[in-house]
Amino acid sequence: MSLVVTGATGQLGRLVVSSLLAKGVPADQIVALGRDEERLAALAALGVTTRRVDYADAAGLADALAGADRVLLISGSEVGRRLVQHQNVVDAAKAAGVGLLAYTSIANADTSGLALAAEHRATEEAIVASGLRHAFLRNSWYTDLYTGQVPTYVEHGAVLGAAGDGRVSAATRADLAEAAAAVLLLEEPRAVYELGGAAFTLAELAAAVGEATGTEVAYSDLPAEELTTVLVGAGLPEQYAAVLADADLGLGRGELYVDPADLQVLLGRPATTLAEALSATIGA
Ligand SMILES: NC(=O)c1ccc[n+]([C@@H]2O[C@H](COP(=O)([O-])OP(=O)(O)OC[C@H]3O[C@@H](n4cnc5c(N)ncnc54)[C@H](OP(=O)(O)O)[C@@H]3O)[C@@H](O)[C@H]2O)c1
Repeated sequence: MSLVVTGATGQLGRLVVSSLLAKGVPADQIVALGRDEERLAALAALGVTTRRVDYADAAGLADALAGADRVLLISGSEVGRRLVQHQNVVDAAKAAGVGLLAYTSIANADTSGLALAAEHRATEEAIVASGLRHAFLRNSWYTDLYTGQVPTYVEHGAVLGAAGDGRVSAATRADLAEAAAAVLLLEEPRAVYELGGAAFTLAELAAAVGEATGTEVAYSDLPAEELTTVLVGAGLPEQYAAVLADADLGLGRGELYVDPADLQVLLGRPATTLAEALSATIGA
């Protein structure tokens, strides 16, 4: 069995490779793809096969996927260029005749109004059109995106957002990676998984950060344009800031909410809670 993980040099991909190894997959059955030489070398040190390939390189992908039984396509990070890149992976997977193409998509990809969802929806459509057996891993937001901001929340005593009282089914990258590894190993995976943990509002996030750090942290709800301006002022590129503010609007509409059951079943336990993720971050 040859399992190929694309984007293995990224934060999620590295955790998928670790999860596969932890589940007992022999290292010589895992092929890790990415571009970054240093992170590929770190993966090679785990004993897995590594191949350097860009999603833009159709011929390189055909070589990298030859002989693969199952492939996990981890969505790329170059927003706006991803559909062509993902199509190259789909074409290479089709040419290789893989038995399963799993794809890390976004929560509620078929109906979501988030700007970020458009490329995911189009990729899902391309995968369906390929006729390959597939599993869409529709990941909600990473909890890590919030826990990574704890110092900023504490410094300002505030969580800023534009999500109103919408609930986000955030889950840790580690849990989503473990679930992806589980799907790669299932004999009969489903075509669609909606993956997220126990949902919370951004006001509940602020309260949980306050409790975990022993400080006063409140949620401040802003119009999306104002949030974009604040994020740009904090140093984010304008396009990225606008995408984040747009995602908050989608969160407010409930589009990052999913039932926690799919993730729980794949993990065989409840997903890591926000409070657990916060205490792990603060303890680290
Ligand atoms: N659910 C969420 O909250 C959320 C948040 C952010 C992103 N995402 C999506 O989930 C994906 C994985 O998340 P992550 O945290 O692991 O992101 P990440 O750390 O930025 O990793 C992105 C991975 O994609 C690879 N990649 C990007 N463009 C590529 C290209 N043109 N050719 C080949 N490889 C390419 C990178 O390879 P190199 O580093 O080797 O170049 C890296 O391995 C992201 O790429 C994004 O699509 C989800």
